[in-house]
Amino acid sequence: MRGSMNEYPFDTLQTVLIVIALIAIWVVASKAWQRLQLSLAKSPSLGGHLRWAKRITSRIPGYSYAKDQWLAADGAPSEVALRRQTALLKLGADLKCTAPKTLANTAQAKPMISDLQLISQYRVPFQFRSYLQEHVTLGSFWKESEGVNLTDLDGNTFIDVTGSYGVNLFGQDFYKDCIDEGVSLVKSLGPVLGSYHPCVLDNVQRLRRISGKDEVSFHMSGTEAVMQAVRIARYSTGKSKVVRFTAAYHGWWDDVQPGPGNPMPPSPYTLTLREMHKNTLRVLRNRHDIACVLVNPIQAMHPNQSAPTDSTLLSASRRAHFDRAAYTKWLQALREVCTARGIVLILDEVFLGFRLARGGAQEYFDINADIVTYGKTLGGGLPIGVVCGPHALMKRYKESNPADLCFARGTFNAHPYVMGAMNAFLRRIESEPAKTLYKTLDETWIRRAKLLNDRLAQAKLPLRIEAMSTVWTVLYTCPSRYNWMLQFYLRREGIALSWVGTGRLIFSLNFTDADFESFVTRFVQAAQKMHEDAWWWTPNGQTNKTIQRQLLRELMAHKFLRVQ
Ligand SMILES: Cc1ncc(COP(=O)(O)O)c(C=O)c1O
Repeated sequence: MRGSMNEYPFDTLQTVLIVIALIAIWVVASKAWQRLQLSLAKSPSLGGHLRWAKRITSRIPGYSYAKDQWLAADGAPSEVALRRQTALLKLGADLKCTAPKTLANTAQAKPMISDLQLISQYRVPFQFRSYLQEHVTLGSFWKESEGVNLTDLDGNTFIDVTGSYGVNLFGQDFYKDCIDEGVSLVKSLGPVLGSYHPCVLDNVQRLRRISGKDEVSFHMSGTEAVMQAVRIARYSTGKSKVVRFTAAYHGWWDDVQPGPGNPMPPSPYTLTLREMHKNTLRVLRNRHDIACVLVNPIQAMHPNQSAPTDSTLLSASRRAHFDRAAYTKWLQALREVCTARGIVLILDEVFLGFRLARGGAQEYFDINADIVTYGKTLGGGLPIGVVCGPHALMKRYKESNPADLCFARGTFNAHPYVMGAMNAFLRRIESEPAKTLYKTLDETWIRRAKLLNDRLAQAKLPLRIEAMSTVWTVLYTCPSRYNWMLQFYLRREGIALSWVGTGRLIFSLNFTDADFESFVTRFVQAAQKMHEDAWWWTPNGQTNKTIQRQLLRELMAHKFLRVQ
């Protein structure tokens, strides 16, 4: 009896310890399993490993090629280097003598406008910047727009494929009309804030129809719209984590722009996962703390890769391919898992909204997101961000807990002038001519991309176009160190590109076939001249891999041997 009384507490303690140990093992194992799942769902590239990406990019040494290396970075013989030098000087002189006023204004503005410094700095790979800028500069001022053309301060006209960061969908004249119409609509009220001009009601009704959602909130930029969408998703689900996909841009807010470019360490509340991958679906299925998934459908062109810019075009390794069916399938898989797990699916249509279809990316990819963000073109030429969602997600207070609200406002939200221009925009896109335009949109731009590709192939030029409707990227087939030079040849032929150069050409829908033909002629001519000027001369055996190895050796030498 006594013995059994002594054994009893001992057994209990042992049992408790075993249970605690088992629980601890289970907790550790499930955490490790979760961690492993997360690791498996990361893109193997640096873009998937943001802490590493930040560490590595912050240690890349800056250096510049002096003249001889600049002209023969690929080991070109002296006669090739000489041809290149002559061509470079002529290119610079041509750009300079045709645009003295534009360039003088740009030079004057540059030290005073920090954004201008950043964008002119990031047009070309850094090794080439210094010597290039001694000889070739581009103007950053325009005085007029008409049709598909921009005119600089010296009266030179350029075909505009800058796209105004994506805003310019219907052509600048369209937006001038929207703004004029909007101003006359709201003029008698003026900039009264905090309540609404009656056109807001019409805007909301139209947006509800287009988005298929119950409610709308207005903001001043796409970044703000995304901030709001994420905030309400967190509030309504009570969960904290945001899933974004590798390299997808959603504005410059810390939580959705972790990694290089952001001085803060990546937020622990943001999971950056691999797009179009089954391991990502497994993470979404198995975790309990995910509030929302953010999708930027432009990534369909280059999943898990950053927007292509010429500043990283060090070889010909840029890749892009748009497969509408595959991306539709991916979005449907995301939709299924988000529905099953109570995760808010946010389709960020700030860039692509209205560009692919009248009903936006939701219509184009046949997907019903929980929340949709719009921006850019929707403001009819004025700054805008919009969130559309169902009542349950958009509600920012709780009757049962009156102090528990989700605060998000903004002084300029629903500004009457913006609402007026938006009203003009929305009326226009619901008009019959716009409906007709949308019906043939894909067909038109697929045909046009093919036409340019055929001409490039006929001329045996080492480049081609990949297109997602009106958003194009130039792909190079020659493993050259100088592919980024094409942007300057294009400018000389009268084509205006944005600061990302040939990485992204954005067309407006007012291009007629004649405008497009003129674009093709100039484009092919620019590439032909670049070819004649020997920038696509390559040494035997040069490949993207050999270029990458050479660059790595260079970086190491500059980093560790302090080579000048
Ligand atoms: C998909 C997407 N979301 C959000 C933003 C941010 O918009 P904004 O520049 O108006 O802040 C952008 C801007 O390019 C975008 O492309």
